[in-house]
Amino acid sequence: MLRVVCPGSFDPVTNGHLDIIGRAAGLYDEVIVAVLINVTKHSLFTVDERVEMLGEVTRGYGNVRIDRFHGLLVDFCAEHGISAVIKGLRAVSDFEYEMQMAQMNYRMAKVETLFMTTNPQFSFLSSSLIKEIARYGGDVSGLVPEPVASRLRRRVTEE
Ligand code: PNS
Repeated sequence: MLRVVCPGSFDPVTNGHLDIIGRAAGLYDEVIVAVLINVTKHSLFTVDERVEMLGEVTRGYGNVRIDRFHGLLVDFCAEHGISAVIKGLRAVSDFEYEMQMAQMNYRMAKVETLFMTTNPQFSFLSSSLIKEIARYGGDVSGLVPEPVASRLRRRVTEE
């Protein structure tokens, strides 16, 4: 079985992430979307909430599974029999750090990284910008899936 992991913070999942996940699902037998548990990073949504939202918006794909991990991505890959990571590249600015991580993951555990170019429709999207826009009352519809947009609206009013 050809299995690939799509790792990230997903705080929250955007339409850009969803585009990459959906296209990866067309190429691989199984796509595991792995949410990083990072206790040191302040997040808007808890890991449980992020996993729940990802599950909701990927329900249409029979071969996408949502999981969570902490520690090294290569350890998660070894535990789950995964030999490749898939990442979306939005712009050249993403490339330098992504290449460094890709080479380090290969050096550590021979885990391959495949880069998929983001749909130009979403190349300017990031979870951080989405949170900022939502916090100041801007419209995020069309940029994140609708269930995420409504959760965002609720969350920013609670803050
Ligand atoms: O959505 P993000 O925050 O850009 O995702 C970054 C992520 C989770 C893919 C990256 O930080 C990661 O793989 N973290 C796990 C820790 C790890 O393996 N670090 C060494 C990388 S070479």
